[in-house]
Amino acid sequence: MSEILLPEQHKYLQKFIKGSDTLLNEMEVYAEENKVPILSKDSAVFLEQLIFMNKPKRVLELGTAIAYSSIRIAGCLSRKGILHTIEKSKDNLKLAKKYIGKSGLGDKIKLIEGNALEIMPTLKKKYDFIFLDADKTDYKTLFQYSLALLKKNGILFIDNLLWHGYAAAEKVPAAKINATTVIREFNEMFIAEPALKTSILPIGDGIGIGVKIN
Ligand SMILES: C[S@@+](CC[C@H](N)C(=O)[O-])C[C@H]1O[C@@H](n2cnc3c(N)ncnc32)[C@H](O)[C@@H]1O
Repeated sequence: MSEILLPEQHKYLQKFIKGSDTLLNEMEVYAEENKVPILSKDSAVFLEQLIFMNKPKRVLELGTAIAYSSIRIAGCLSRKGILHTIEKSKDNLKLAKKYIGKSGLGDKIKLIEGNALEIMPTLKKKYDFIFLDADKTDYKTLFQYSLALLKKNGILFIDNLLWHGYAAAEKVPAAKINATTVIREFNEMFIAEPALKTSILPIGDGIGIGVKIN
């Protein structure tokens, strides 16, 4: 059930979501059974559309997990396109390598092992598209690094800005207050950023889109 849409709208829109291919389906089942958070299907399709439309040559992803979104991005890249994706969890890295191998898209995906907070300041060449999907407590810092690494007219795509509905909720359970505060503060900062043309879209768990305008 969606925490964002009214049940009626959610049920109606679910009818239009197409099934995934065999590998993606296997990954969706693994993620569900093992509680690995991956992009929702509707957000993933929207991400793929943006990649097709903008034909970015260099894409950076912060937070690979098991490489579900990495494989979806890589599958939409043009001939010269490449994805760099950063992951810090050793367990997830193992799975990401397995699934990237299975996907046959290994030549399109460069998996960078380590903490994006340490790796990003060492990256020199800019990117056309950056997908931010790491720990929410790291969002503010990773956002600043992303701004510096994004080319003019480049796109920043950020997941979880509605934070399972809590970002907009009047009452937030005690266990969710810290993360919700982080996301709320992040959203204020993101929307006010003068270097970007921004919006937050009610797709999946809330997608932030920023286009670098200066
Ligand atoms: C929400 S999951 C990513 C899901 C993936 N983008 C997808 O949709 O298939 C977040 C992942 O980011 C990783 N992560 C969180 N903070 C990170 C950081 N600072 N540097 C590198 N990886 C990070 C976590 O270990 C986790 O695997």
